[in-house]
Amino acid sequence: MKKYIVNGGNNLSGEVTICGAKNVVLKAIVAACLTRDEVILNNVPQISDVHYMLEMVKGFGGSVDQEGSRLTIKVSEITSTKLPLETAAKMRASSLFFAPFVLRMGEAQIPNPGGDRIGARRIDMHIDGLNKLGVTIEYKDDGFFYAAAQKIEGASYKFKKNTHTGTEQMILASVLARGETLLENCALEPEIDELIELLNLMGANVRREENRVIRILGVESLHGAEYTIKSDRNEAVTFAIASALTGGNIWLKNTSVDLLKEFTQEFEKAGGKLEINENNDLRFYIEDRILPTNVTTEIYPGFMTDWQGPWCVLMTQAEGESVIHEAIYEDRFQYVNELKKMGADIELFNPQVENPNEFYNFNYDDCTSDTRHAIKIKGKTNLKNAVLTMHDLRAGATVVLAALIAPGESVIYGIDQIERGYERFDERLKKLGANIKYIDE
Ligand code: EPU
Repeated sequence: MKKYIVNGGNNLSGEVTICGAKNVVLKAIVAACLTRDEVILNNVPQISDVHYMLEMVKGFGGSVDQEGSRLTIKVSEITSTKLPLETAAKMRASSLFFAPFVLRMGEAQIPNPGGDRIGARRIDMHIDGLNKLGVTIEYKDDGFFYAAAQKIEGASYKFKKNTHTGTEQMILASVLARGETLLENCALEPEIDELIELLNLMGANVRREENRVIRILGVESLHGAEYTIKSDRNEAVTFAIASALTGGNIWLKNTSVDLLKEFTQEFEKAGGKLEINENNDLRFYIEDRILPTNVTTEIYPGFMTDWQGPWCVLMTQAEGESVIHEAIYEDRFQYVNELKKMGADIELFNPQVENPNEFYNFNYDDCTSDTRHAIKIKGKTNLKNAVLTMHDLRAGATVVLAALIAPGESVIYGIDQIERGYERFDERLKKLGANIKYIDE
């Protein structure tokens, strides 16, 4: 079994290069499957989600060549329109293969997508939108969606709530549709704009307009292109918090202040400081003491749901009571029990919300009476070493951060989770001075 052994308490220092964004590359791989030509992607992180996505591409006839962070994909023919259940169910991005399969082959069999178990994670809006474009979709008991369409027709669709991959699904399906597609109430995440950038380089005609509107004029075909993925804002925030917690001397390379604006604003409220050097490298540090904060996760632009776990570790080091209210996923506090094992004083609760169906991005009806949407963190706590488990990707980063500041030996299981989205996390932390060992026995 794989595990990390962390001996916490070291101050970290040095430089870390932030990798390309997982949540861009996974969608860029799907975009590459819309053409018979070669698509080259640079700055691709070496993480298991990318590996599984590429296994699926090879499985349906694509050729893939990966040299370091440079990835070449060529899908001359699609030889199967059914994704393997086990691999596809590992990640939510697999549901995006509806577009290349239906557009090129007229049909698709896609398993109900997985990814992190951080709530029900429905794809009802994806299905609804694809139906609007003329794709018929039936969900069967074997766990697959069966989709078919002779030709995708441009249409208008308004998302009832914000959906990041749902917006991407509709863009991918519309670029080769007949006529114009108008999407309203679209998500604004910058990862979506990178997908649009790549598709336009491939010959698509996708335009973001004001007020969350995206207009797509279908084109006859797409061609090859080369694109460099921008840096991962979730990875950057993880290292920013690692820096703040361990002496403030980690320089983040290959990222940008613009991408981290919403994080930096909250970090400054917590007493944090940001230094930018002449190479535009970033250093997040605490000058004096960490102040308690009250954050609610929001759709873009807002404090991102993926940051709240690492933020909670930071708040265990603040004097006083902090609150984190999770509004995007109904069940994203699995790390709380792990931090409690380390002595953290955290209480789960449900804040008073006037109209929960509107306030929360998730489907409020999916919640049970046990689901809690917020936590109160009382600090400051000197965290202690413990035996810990990673329950999902960001929860994985959360427990590693906590172990880094807890003196003594912590053992962390569930490493597959962190390998989904952080390239060589242990090695990069070790280079910064962390006492962390990866063991596979
Ligand atoms: N939702 C529905 N129906 C839908 C689509 C979404 O009810 O048809 C709900 C979801 O269940 C969730 C909320 O709406 O409660 C937000 O879902 P959204 O579609 O916006 O996000 P996602 O596609 O599940 C992506 C990222 C997440 C990131 C969020 C927010 C990918 C593959 N995943 O998820 O990344 O947290 O957007 O930006 O792009 C991660 O990297 O660890 C991760 C979870």
